[in-house]
Amino acid sequence: MKVALTGTPGTGKSSAVPLIEGIRVVTVGRLVEESGLAPELDLATGALEIDTDALSRFVAGIEDNVLIEGHLSHLLGVDTAIVLRCSPKVLQKRLESRGYAAVKVRENMEAEAVDVILIEALGCAPTVCEIDTTHLSSAEVASAISAIMAGESEKYPVGHVDWSQEVLDWF
Ligand SMILES: Nc1ncnc2c1ncn2[C@@H]1O[C@H](COP(=O)(O)OP(=O)(O)OP(=O)(O)O)[C@@H](O)[C@H]1O
Ligand SMILES: [Mg+2]
Repeated sequence: MKVALTGTPGTGKSSAVPLIEGIRVVTVGRLVEESGLAPELDLATGALEIDTDALSRFVAGIEDNVLIEGHLSHLLGVDTAIVLRCSPKVLQKRLESRGYAAVKVRENMEAEAVDVILIEALGCAPTVCEIDTTHLSSAEVASAISAIMAGESEKYPVGHVDWSQEVLDWF
């Protein structure tokens, strides 16, 4: 089984990974390197983009029983996507403490508020789970990921995370 660990930047994917025991983890960045695919510059945004269809074809050939970490991992033909979530106002603090520019902080808060990654994941992974990391330590997030990998995905169903009340307070 291939499992994606995805979520808006700042939801705590990389912080949880070193605390997950007994599961092989690979980052999307590592897979890009291994595949030899060259990221392309998006002239509109200045961001480096990777061809996720080409990367999916590469991922189809790697060994199963792997957790693929990164905010594009749910697009790579996985069996299950674990989407880390975080209240936008807590995400704001996490991203500000990483030194993100205000415009980037806002962009990610908005993406989290309107479930961008969750909706993408639902469109391409047969099983999707959500973990609300807002009040969890990274060790607790790692335990929840292990529980899902051990077959307890029903404890983390899609739909139990809802930022609409918080977003209404923005207006
Ligand atoms: N569970 C947590 N509780 C409190 N702070 C956290 C938690 N997880 C991560 N953080 C903090 O939030 C910031 C972002 O965490 P991290 O780098 O793990 O996010 P990420 O999801 O890997 O982001 P990216 O997609 O940009 O790689 C870091 O400063 C980290 O210390
Ligand atoms: Mg990360």
